[in-house]
Amino acid sequence: MAQKTPDKILIVEDEPDIALALKLALEGAGYETAWAGDGEKALQILQDDDDCHLALLDIRMPGIDGVEVLKRLRNSDRDVTVIMMSGHGSEELAVECIKIGAEDYLSKPFVLDDMLQRVERARSHRLAVIEKKRLEQEREDFFMMLSHDMKNPMTAVIGSIDIMREGRLGPVNEEQVDYLQSAIDSCNEVILMIDNLLDIRRFEVGKMQLSIQTYNPVEIIRKVAAQFSRAAERDGIRFVLDIKDDLPAIAVDRNALTRIMGNLLGNALKFTPEGGEIAVSCSCMYQPAPLLSRIPTYAALPDGFMDQKCLVALTVRDTGNGIPSDELKTIFDRYTQSSSNSGRERGGAGLGLSFCKLAVESFGGVIWAESEAGQGSEFIILLPCVKR
Ligand SMILES: Nc1ncnc2c1ncn2[C@@H]1O[C@H](COP(=O)(O)OP(=O)(O)O)[C@@H](O)[C@H]1O
Ligand SMILES: [Mg+2]
Repeated sequence: MAQKTPDKILIVEDEPDIALALKLALEGAGYETAWAGDGEKALQILQDDDDCHLALLDIRMPGIDGVEVLKRLRNSDRDVTVIMMSGHGSEELAVECIKIGAEDYLSKPFVLDDMLQRVERARSHRLAVIEKKRLEQEREDFFMMLSHDMKNPMTAVIGSIDIMREGRLGPVNEEQVDYLQSAIDSCNEVILMIDNLLDIRRFEVGKMQLSIQTYNPVEIIRKVAAQFSRAAERDGIRFVLDIKDDLPAIAVDRNALTRIMGNLLGNALKFTPEGGEIAVSCSCMYQPAPLLSRIPTYAALPDGFMDQKCLVALTVRDTGNGIPSDELKTIFDRYTQSSSNSGRERGGAGLGLSFCKLAVESFGGVIWAESEAGQGSEFIILLPCVKR
């Protein structure tokens, strides 16, 4: 919704003479005005009248004073630019009001020309802020639309290459299949990057739509693992899957969990050399204390997490070159890649782990990484079990 410009000004002043002088000066300068003789009335008008976007607010008034009115406004979603009016001796209070969010203040007695100048300045400032926000929103909308629309042609490219790879357009030899598959993998990596980018943004602005349902994790993990075990085989990496029987259910968004695993396994593949090993495990912990004690202090824990009696642990371990201990925390920040293995050289934008963290946290879980330089890395996710 477009925000309106502050051409109607609310005068909040209990002394009728001052209120009248303000009204005449402001209307003479082309503004519309409204008047409230006390704080309560002011809040009522601001609630009812969408056109009032600027208020001249007296500090000292009977009943709810100006400071309280300002506080209540700042705690509401009503967006009003406020100029305080302080009587002699209450300048300190006026400065306090600026800290709470007033735009400016006038000391009584004031010269009307000075008052008009300050009103005009507050109005221009407000307009500039509105315009800046509009441009930012426009840029954001454009970026989200562009990112989203880039996925369609990528999907079409994958479809065409896949037809060729399957030999439906004529025979292809093994080497050609390998090349075509690696083209498909690269396209999928771009799609994953776009999805990560879009979802991180959605999480940040609170617009991520998740469909949290109860699942047995086995089927989801097996499906992603099958896809990556083929890729590992192509790269000469051993792939080990260890899923314990009789796992309890977890409450997750299926697509998001698939993408979390896809990101972790994609990283493991990217950073593990030929001849190495990637191991995925999924187990249930009824006595989770030893694992809980491994959670690093910087991990954000949901309330009551340490009291959980049953947790599902999902881990992805590899024998790659590892991550230095001082970077184990920062790799979860967006656009961050470890200095030890130049992810940039291997592609990637430093978004995958950031998505994983936001998504795991949205399931009420925790994720962290453990690693010893040269010894590989392990990513551990703990999720609460759904009570049976
Ligand atoms: N399994 C791993 N082994 C070594 N380093 C890793 C591993 N997983 C992640 N990293 C480090 O963390 C960084 C961030 O990972 P991620 O957020 O997935 O971004 P990207 O894969 O796009 O670089 C990687 O660039 C890499 O430096
Ligand atoms: Mg990645």
